[in-house]
Order: sequence, then C-alpha cells, then structure tokens
Amino acid sequence: MIYHNTLEFAESLDAQDELRHFRHEFLIPQHNGEDAIYLCGNSLGLQPKSTEKYLGTQLNAWKDLAVEGWFQGDDPWLQFHHQLKQPLANLTGAKPDEVTVMNSLTVNLHLLLVSFYQPTNKRYKVLMEGGAFPSDQYAIESQVNYHGYQAEDAIVEVFPREGEHTLRTEDIISVIEQNADELTLVLFAGVNYYTGQVFDMEAIANAGHKAGAYVGFDLAHAVGNVPLELHNWDADFACWCSYKYMNSGPGGISGVFVHEKHFNNPDLKRFAGWWGYRPDKRFLMAPGFKAAHGAEGWQVSTSPILLMAAHKAALDIFEKAGGLMELRQKSVLLTGYLEYLIHEINHKYGEELFTIITPSDPNIRGCQLSVICKRNGKATFNYLAKNGVIGDWREPDVIRLSPVPLYNSFKDVYKAASYLDMSLVVSE
Ligand SMILES: Cc1ncc(COP(=O)(O)O)c(C=O)c1O
Repeated sequence: MIYHNTLEFAESLDAQDELRHFRHEFLIPQHNGEDAIYLCGNSLGLQPKSTEKYLGTQLNAWKDLAVEGWFQGDDPWLQFHHQLKQPLANLTGAKPDEVTVMNSLTVNLHLLLVSFYQPTNKRYKVLMEGGAFPSDQYAIESQVNYHGYQAEDAIVEVFPREGEHTLRTEDIISVIEQNADELTLVLFAGVNYYTGQVFDMEAIANAGHKAGAYVGFDLAHAVGNVPLELHNWDADFACWCSYKYMNSGPGGISGVFVHEKHFNNPDLKRFAGWWGYRPDKRFLMAPGFKAAHGAEGWQVSTSPILLMAAHKAALDIFEKAGGLMELRQKSVLLTGYLEYLIHEINHKYGEELFTIITPSDPNIRGCQLSVICKRNGKATFNYLAKNGVIGDWREPDVIRLSPVPLYNSFKDVYKAASYLDMSLVVSE
C-alpha cells in the first residue's frame, strides 16, 4: 500500500474499510465532547456496548433463579463456559477441549507451572526472553525458589544483541541448544509487551522439544491481536488475559491452553479443585480427585459467571467479524499507516526524533508500535494525553501506541500522528 500523509487519504481508507462498522459496537471514551483517540488496547480493550446486556441477563438470572441459575434458565451457569471454548479455540488455533477459562493470568501461569515445571537435579533450568513482563519474571523466580533452586542459576534469559532492541530467532534457538542438557522449560511471550515483537512460537516450540523441555507461552499481548496455531505448533501449554485485545473488562477472566497430548499424561502433577473434577460425578462429593477431560481438568474454583458473561459479549464480536483473518489484514494496514506517519515526522525534521523499536516486518509484530522519544518523551506523552490521544508510557522513554482494528480508524491514526508532530513544537 502506498500511504499519503493527509486527512483525506485517511478518510478514504476508512470509507473503503469493510470492518468500520465494528467501531460502533464499542463505547469510546470521550474527550472534550468527541471520541478520544484510544490507542491503548494493548493495556485495556474498550467496552463493547453489548457487555451491559450480557451482564444484565446474568444479573436477572441471579435475581429470578438464585441458586437454580446453575441448572436452569437459558444458559445454566454450570455449562456457561462451554460457549466460550469454540470462539477461544478459533482465536488460538486450538481444539475446543484444549482451552478453558479460569482465574486470572498470573494465577494460571502458576497453576500450569505446577504441571510443566517439575525440575530434577539434572534438568531444572527455565529459558525466558530477557525483559519478560515482570509478573512472569516474579512467577518463575518464585517457582524456581519454591523448588529449592537459585534464580541466577536456574533462569536463563535471552537478550537482544548489542545495539538491537528485539530478539533474533536464531539466538533464541542457539541459547536453547546451549542449555539443552539442563533445560526443563521454555517460557516465552507470544508478543513481547515492551517492544511488540511477535516471536516465532513454532520454531521455539520445536527447539524446546528437541532439547527435551516443555514449551509454554504467555499470550497476553497475542490473543485477539495476531493469528495463533497453538495446536499445530505443538505448544505444551499457554495462558493469557482477556482484558487487552479481547475487550473483556478490567481483570477479566484468563484463558488457558493445554495440548491434548497431555490430557492423560500421568507425569503431570496439578493443583486440583472441585471445578476441575469430572462434571458428571462432581456433585457426588466423593473423595479422590478425578480430572475432567481436557483443559477443563485444570480448573480449580467455581465459574465466575459475571466475568464469563463479559467475555462472551466480547468473543461474540470476534465471531461476527469472522475471526481474526480480516481483522488482521486491517491491523497490518493500520499499524503500517502509523509507522509511515512517524517516519514522515522524522523526515520532516531531518532527524530520528521517534525511533520505532517494534520490528518493521508486519509478520513479526501485531498492532502495537513502541516508540522511543529522543527528546522530552514524558512531555510528548502528556501532550498527547491532553489532546485526547490515549497510549501508554513505559519507562524510561517509550510510548506504546496500538491501533486496534475492531475499533480504531485510519483517521484516529492520522490524528494521533498529527499530535505527535505538534508535540515537538510545544515541548521544545
Ligand atoms: C505479558 C503479561 N503477562 C502477565 C501479565 C499480568 O497479568 P495479570 O495481572 O492478569 O495476572 C500481564 C499484564 O498486563 C502481561 O502483559
């Protein structure tokens, strides 16, 4: 696509965009009586207008049926989560029985590590991307300590080469190979939260397995953003949150994937609870845990129906959009347009005032661009915010901007870049 730096061009792309009506399914925050330019779906996705209705339906079921809501009504709560499986399988490239929803992300990571991090004195090391999201670092550190190992010894991190911001797949594979004898787990993000880089999950899974390790992914920044093929890539497990690109509300319910090859794997320990028990026998309240089939066997506690209802509202929008295929095409164009406009600003000033550290290859990025500000980064960010452009700031000098194909327009991107340009004059 040949882009142009004009409002008319942005509006013409919007006019041709067959997904543009999806924007009207969302509540856009207001700024001075107009729609804000919300580019922060990497942190918290917008609220679908339908969420209130989906929640209202469950509140009414609670009001009218009370405890009978578990068994009666249009959507008995006992099976409510079943409706989420197919849409989630579609977004993650899983089989429906390989996914379930429960708890929140870091809690699920810990629960999955109970199964997939069982170190021995010979194999106890975990390989991660350097600069992984802090919660993942803390989770792994605490798991390693819990098993009696030292983080400095047991956690191997792969960092970008000197002068580079993102990781090369060959470097990841080479570190896996170097540690093959002692590695028991490879845990990677699907998309790095800071740089927006999409990792080659298939290559990482292959290399990890060749080294004799389990391979899991934190997909917080990947699900609903980039296409995934968890089953075919042979990932052992994955988990994600639903509040970013899946628009399911602050602290929304998390999802997990367990590959079907592990459903009956007796070597996998797990922390059990009654909700992971075989559903046909759960209410016999018998001693001795018997796991439900599939990922559901990793559930622990009673379904949080209100969180699941908000999740269903959001997933139904993805289903209406036909999954991720067309959304991804639009996403590549939207983010490409933002990238082009940022390069235009640098060109205008004859200096790289904004350095995009996200890969320029659309195949290895999602919708997010992470931008290092050479001058007065915080002032630039504040100027954007004052003018209704909502992105987010990551220390020491990065602004993350994420045009989301479900609700952002090309005009949003054009206006955001215009404010970025104007910020240079104002923050001088
Ligand atoms: C990559 C990643 N992992 C983990 C988390 C933590 O998720 P939670 O607070 O829902 O456990 C986040 C939150 O933004 C994240 O971006």
